[in-house]
This record gives sequence, structure tokens and C-alpha cells, in this order.
Amino acid sequence: MASGGLKPSLRYHKKVVIVTGGTKGIGEAIVRVFVNNGASVVFCSKEETASDLEAELNSCGTGAAIYVSCDVTKEEEIKRLIDVTVKTYGKIDCLINNAGWHPPEQIIDNTSAQDFQDLLNLNLIGYFLTAKYALPHLRKTQGNIINISSLVGIIGQKHAIPYVATKGAVTAMTKAMAIDESQYNVRVNSICPGNVWTPLWEELSRHSSDPNAMILGGKDAQLLGRMGTTEECANAVLFLAAEGTFCTGIDILLTGGAELNYANKNQQEARSSIYH
Ligand SMILES: NC(=O)c1ccc[n+]([C@@H]2O[C@H](COP(=O)([O-])OP(=O)(O)OC[C@H]3O[C@@H](n4cnc5c(N)ncnc54)[C@H](O)[C@@H]3O)[C@@H](O)[C@H]2O)c1
Repeated sequence: MASGGLKPSLRYHKKVVIVTGGTKGIGEAIVRVFVNNGASVVFCSKEETASDLEAELNSCGTGAAIYVSCDVTKEEEIKRLIDVTVKTYGKIDCLINNAGWHPPEQIIDNTSAQDFQDLLNLNLIGYFLTAKYALPHLRKTQGNIINISSLVGIIGQKHAIPYVATKGAVTAMTKAMAIDESQYNVRVNSICPGNVWTPLWEELSRHSSDPNAMILGGKDAQLLGRMGTTEECANAVLFLAAEGTFCTGIDILLTGGAELNYANKNQQEARSSIYH
């Protein structure tokens, strides 16, 4: 059906899309929404195969999907991901940089330069290199890049200095890339999710001394009183790719209002335990 008749309801019909980190969480939802809207999607993760997901996606009757094993911290593997995409589908219309990680609580005293460097390589340099090797193809199609950033890159987060720094840099890099690529009509945008329930969030809560309290706190951080869903993120990404044709360098906040309003942030108790 990927090459079938005219399907006006499909919002990204016959477009070729790369999604990094597409086997779980936000990335998987993005892969699904693009395939359901007629795109041919190449998705990756570090694992050897994702044959069940690949087979399911190809049986949905709209777009198509192939899985490529690719660790985005390895430049040679990124080059291969791009090569396989172009050899298979002949072009690239959209790159979605999503593969990333949030480490469990990190305080500066226990965080090494290597810890920081490793996270930079995954969350920032991985996005940069995938963009670098996809751009020669995106310029030919006047395509677009969408980077998955994070609200905490704007408002900060407790015990997460390296993560916050990588995501703030993703949002800033998006704007710089949008400026340079505008001459080729390539758009570069980002989304900034707040708390979204994914396997990553679940894993982080398992590291907490009280997972239920952490999950409740994660919901209560939003004015809307719940976490976001992966489908809500995927729909915003599809909007940027398919309809947001006058958007470049923007960052869509998907946060349920988490950044709004004053709240009690007094850390008097923590301060007194340090000084007394
Ligand atoms: N979940 C949230 O609340 C939230 C909020 C803001 C931003 N984000 C960002 O969204 C993105 C996805 O997060 P998620 O919660 O869906 O995470 P997740 O752990 O549920 O999924 C991450 C995906 O990335 C892949 N991946 C990890 N390391 C990789 C590597 N080296 N090479 C290739 N693939 C790799 C995993 O295999 C998986 O498919 C991340 O960039 C994250 O920082 C998440």
C-alpha cells in the first residue's frame, strides 16, 4: 500500500523519514504515526533487531518501515544509517533526532567528566552528526529536521546538570541550524516535552526510594494534572513535518503547563541541614 493510489487523508504520504531511537517510548510513537500517515520510515536503536515491531508496522496497510541497528554515539554507524536509507528509498525528507537518555539522579560531586562527555555524545553530538550526514540529502528534497529536546533545557531540573545542559544545547543548536539551512529551504525545529510516561520514565522511577511518590510528583508537576503521552508528542512532530511549513527554528512546548505559575520552591530545610 505504500506505493498505492492517492490517499488524500495521509499527511506524509510517500515521504522518507529517519527516526533515531524508534523502538520504545516517544520514538516508537513517532514511527507509528508517520507509518500510519503513509511515510516510509527507517528507525534505529542499539539493539540487533526489532523484527516484531518492523513486521507489525509493515502490516498496517499504509506506509512502510525498516529497522537498522545503529548506535548514535558511533559516527560510522550513523553514516551507515543514512546510506541504508538512501539506498533503500532513494531520498530523505525528514530526520527526527530522538535517541537520548536521562541518567538517574546526578550530583556534581559524584559526576565525572567522562559521565558528562558520554551523555553529551549521546544527547547532543549524536543529533549533530545524524543531521550532518542527512543534510546533503535533505537539501535536495527541501526537507526538515525535528529534534526532541526537553522542557528542563529551559527551566532546569534538580540533580540533572549534564542532562539539562545537553537538552538546552539541543534547543540552541536547533535555532543555529535553522539559520544556516534556511538558504536551502530546509526547516529545523524542536519539541520540548515535559513529563511523558515512557519506559525511560518508568526506569527512572524504579531507581527512586519511593517510585509511587515519584510518579505522583511527575503527574502533579503539570497544571493539567497528568503526564503527557507519547502519541501527543508524535502528533506534534507530524504537525511540524507535514503542516508546519512556515515554522523554522521553533520549539513546541508539550508540557501540560508545567512551567507556569509560582510555586513553593523554598529549600530552607535542605539549607539548614547543610549549615547546622
Ligand atoms: N520521557 C520524558 O518524560 C521525556 C521528556 C523530555 C524529553 N524526552 C526525550 O525524548 C527522547 C526519548 O525519550 P523516551 O522517554 O522515549 O526514552 P526511552 O528510553 O523510552 O526510549 C529511548 C529510545 O532511544 C534508543 N536509544 C538509546 N540509546 C541509543 C543509542 N546510543 N543509539 C540509538 N538508539 C538509542 C532506545 O533504544 C529507545 O528506542 C529522549 O531524547 C529524551 O531525552 C523525554
